[in-house]
Amino acid sequence: MNPKKPRSPTSPRKDDNLRFRRFLRIPRFLFKWFKKIHSAKVYSMSYVKDPSLAGQGKLNLEIAERHMGALLNVREHFKKTRPFSGLTIGMALHVTKETGVLVRTFVAGGAKVAITGCNPLSTQDDVAAALAKEKDIKVWAYKGESNEDYYKFLTAVIGEEPDITIDDGCDLVTLVHTRHPHLLKKMLGGCEETTTGIIRLKAMEKEGVLKTPMIAVNDNLTKHLMDNYYGTGQSTFDGILRSTNMLIAGSTVVVLGYGSCGKGVALRAKGLGANVIVTEVAAFPALQAAMDGFRVLPMAEAAPLGDLFITVTGNLRVIRMEHIEKMKDGAILANSGHFNHEIDIDTIEKQAKRKRRVRHYLDEYLLKSGKAIFIAGEGRLVNLASAEGHPSEVMSLSFCGQAFACEYLVKHKGKLKNEVITLPDEIDDRIAKMQLEAMKLNIDVLTPEQRKYLASWREGT
Ligand code: NAI
Repeated sequence: MNPKKPRSPTSPRKDDNLRFRRFLRIPRFLFKWFKKIHSAKVYSMSYVKDPSLAGQGKLNLEIAERHMGALLNVREHFKKTRPFSGLTIGMALHVTKETGVLVRTFVAGGAKVAITGCNPLSTQDDVAAALAKEKDIKVWAYKGESNEDYYKFLTAVIGEEPDITIDDGCDLVTLVHTRHPHLLKKMLGGCEETTTGIIRLKAMEKEGVLKTPMIAVNDNLTKHLMDNYYGTGQSTFDGILRSTNMLIAGSTVVVLGYGSCGKGVALRAKGLGANVIVTEVAAFPALQAAMDGFRVLPMAEAAPLGDLFITVTGNLRVIRMEHIEKMKDGAILANSGHFNHEIDIDTIEKQAKRKRRVRHYLDEYLLKSGKAIFIAGEGRLVNLASAEGHPSEVMSLSFCGQAFACEYLVKHKGKLKNEVITLPDEIDDRIAKMQLEAMKLNIDVLTPEQRKYLASWREGT
């Protein structure tokens, strides 16, 4: 069930304010000034749900570190080189144990870190509590944040005047551009973790409003392959199973979107014994889904067939009321795309006769027709809302990318254009090698003859 939502750190109820002001007969302007000072003070401190969870959070961080060998190697490198001395890194990432390992890695490299979540349901409260106790780290996050607190916490991170930002979904850096543009002057740049964030950044670049270099960490092969494909494939089912405990074998699973994430989800669904249907809007991925052995259908035809629907398109309202009306009684819907608008929950909420939370992050909606549908994870990233996100090994690679991207921004200070930048292949290659090393896997080396052959064009049939 939902944890109890703590009172917002900066917004006592309006009537509380009024009563307090009237009681002390304080003039409104004086009261406003006091509140401003007080808010600034609250912003300058960490805010987590329950500091007493820190012990468990520390243990979870320890477990994650065991599986993040490649990132620990980067930490050792940073300890020696201290590339972030005197810098503040502002982060809006899922506050999970893996992100905690990344935060500690930046601190080892000399940084101060200010972090908040990038999704109201993805924070692991124990990890947030543990990080808040560590030196040079400030945290504002709790699971179940209101929209209002979500933005207040982003503002709190911005209040620390970061030199580098790290985003997952682009909310932090867009807020800097729209509300706090003065910061852009001192910023070295930022890094973006996910596909949806990159799409937003490219739109900013196209409109000519991007005012700082942004590294597309999402586009590293070592991120894209491991995280979007293998990571989302596994953790999406982790979330769905924790919410529903349904049997996947023999069921019909409809995967909406056959991009990197959709391919991973479809692969795992097939591995668990499901009959998989894929829906697409682009020709090539649809063709690839067909070649991979999946049935490809438009959503209107897939709707009555599915037992479980998983959206991973990064798009808007891909499951709408017109589809839901055709679904079986008891159909289960889940989303693993970045934002919670892939399933048209607003309309479902308006039209449903009743809504009940029946299990861990599983809501039942009773429709006017008498049928019921179930939505896991409130339609937010199901792998993070209902479970713990990707396994640590996967995040180790994604975060090696973040770590090297920040180092790249420092090394190239003042030399990068205000555009979306892909890291050089050598960095990706270095990350892959580090992971192979962590997995104790060896590979062959080109012989001098092979190297020469691959570089020449003279030899033919
Ligand atoms: P992608 O761009 O590779 O794939 C998206 C696919 O959806 C494309 O093939 C596109 O043609 C298709 N699509 C778009 N609109 C559609 C519609 N109306 N119906 C059916 N198909 C449609 O993107 P990727 O990397 O697979 O990411 C998808 C989403 O997942 C993004 O929002 C991304 O940020 C998010 N993501 C989530 C993760 C998680 O932990 N759950 C991890 C990584 C990414």
